[in-house]
Amino acid sequence: MIVVIDFGSQTAHLISRRIKELGVNCEIVIPEIAIEKVQQLHPKGLIFSGGPAFVNEKNSPLVDKKIFDFKIPILGICYGQQVVAHLLGGKVTGGKIKEYGPAFVSHKPSLLFNHIPEKFRVWMSHGDSVVKLPSGFSYIAFTEDIKGGAIANVEKNIYCVQFHPELTHTEYGQEILKNFLNICDEKPKKEEIDIDSIIKNIKETVGDKKVIMALSGGTDSFVAAALIARAIGDQLIPVHVESGLMRDDAMENVKVIFAETIKIKPKIIKAQKLFMKKLKNIIDPEIKRKTIGKLYVDLFEKVADSQKQIFFLGQGTTYADFIHSKATKHAALIKSHHNVGGLPKNMKLKLIEPIRYFYTDQVRYIGQKLNLPDKIINQQPFPGPGFAVRIMGEVNEARLEKLKSADKIVMEEIEKAGLKEAIFQYFAILTGANSTAVKGDERFYGEVIAVRAYTTVDRMSADWAKVPYEVLQKISTRIVNEVLGVSRVVYDITTKPPATMEWE
Ligand code: XMP
Repeated sequence: MIVVIDFGSQTAHLISRRIKELGVNCEIVIPEIAIEKVQQLHPKGLIFSGGPAFVNEKNSPLVDKKIFDFKIPILGICYGQQVVAHLLGGKVTGGKIKEYGPAFVSHKPSLLFNHIPEKFRVWMSHGDSVVKLPSGFSYIAFTEDIKGGAIANVEKNIYCVQFHPELTHTEYGQEILKNFLNICDEKPKKEEIDIDSIIKNIKETVGDKKVIMALSGGTDSFVAAALIARAIGDQLIPVHVESGLMRDDAMENVKVIFAETIKIKPKIIKAQKLFMKKLKNIIDPEIKRKTIGKLYVDLFEKVADSQKQIFFLGQGTTYADFIHSKATKHAALIKSHHNVGGLPKNMKLKLIEPIRYFYTDQVRYIGQKLNLPDKIINQQPFPGPGFAVRIMGEVNEARLEKLKSADKIVMEEIEKAGLKEAIFQYFAILTGANSTAVKGDERFYGEVIAVRAYTTVDRMSADWAKVPYEVLQKISTRIVNEVLGVSRVVYDITTKPPATMEWE
């Protein structure tokens, strides 16, 4: 097995998923208990994860130097590379050079890069770099901007990369991890998602109690509800809150498709007016997200109070939602997803989240195995706080209508161009910025709308979609012509990292 030491990375869990996909068992531990865990588990390799801290800062998470005495092969990733260099006498500085998103790495021959082309594209996310090597180490890969694309002490089997092999946007990432497993002399065996044991777990947890299930109409909550329904049948009470913040097809997914496939009729709570009232004057994105999270829970608790024996709130939380909301000890808070960090602290209902440790592609796989309709499994994800996190500044009815009209145009044109399958998510954003235009020979001062479209497998990294110019042109022309009060349309060409998918 492999132990991942988690220094607060957004992707520590993803690293462990990748290792498990390669057929090797993996456990994540925090640095404070790493020595104890290594003594107990006898791993064949250690992976030092990334993290948000800087090694030179006071209180940054490090690991006891004794970790090197075990003489187990080590792979350091990003901050993990810097931890290795720092602890072994090298020097790390917060250089002027920072790399976020794509970069090209060239490497020298080594076991870590076995069978990998000499130059390939990687995904980076760092501000610090190793500028002086510890003794016994050499540089084995570099980018245009930094020498330490990868460093190694080959004799001691310590390899470190500055980029992220666990992200699907890094070419040959999985091959690099496989090469590391070879260095560790690990023998792979295949592991598959065990749907029966997920269902069995739900059954055991719930017993004879009831579960109120938050259904948004999206893939995640649909798949989670399907798993819960398989486990407990009509002890499940699906509820959909009509917040006014979702796309139109959410309703059909819930009212028609859910009722037909799962054979339980969902309760619908009409709450558009309430949502608009509570969102009045809220500008701060985190307060907005928390307000929405609390509103949902208040409404679910009200339903629960009116029924007997409801103890659980079912949610379709995935790992991407979870980790962005500061899920692990050293991780940073990126944003409070409405169903994780946005939940009120004093919630009465207990959570049941059967897909919490899975990613989008795995959730789709589970959906397929459960024979759920294609329209549900392969639909575009839509965030729980909906259009509210795509409206910078205050959400009110007029702005919501404006965004919905622009969003519809983006959807129609991308789909007309046959790009629906190729792009993971595509949408419009009300930026809150204004700009000058000239419309019919007159000055016009109005809002800027942004369009975002990107590709990803698991939502942990993303590249902006190379939408053909003609399609972008059509979108822009239609938005400025058809949506009132818009002066300009811009296309968002930022990768994740650094930019998250949603603007708020
Ligand atoms: P970010 O913006 O965090 O988005 O890069 C990653 C994925 O999650 C969706 N998203 C959310 N989904 N509740 C959700 O159910 C939320 O609060 C939330 N925020 C973002 C986003 O659409 C993307 O697919």
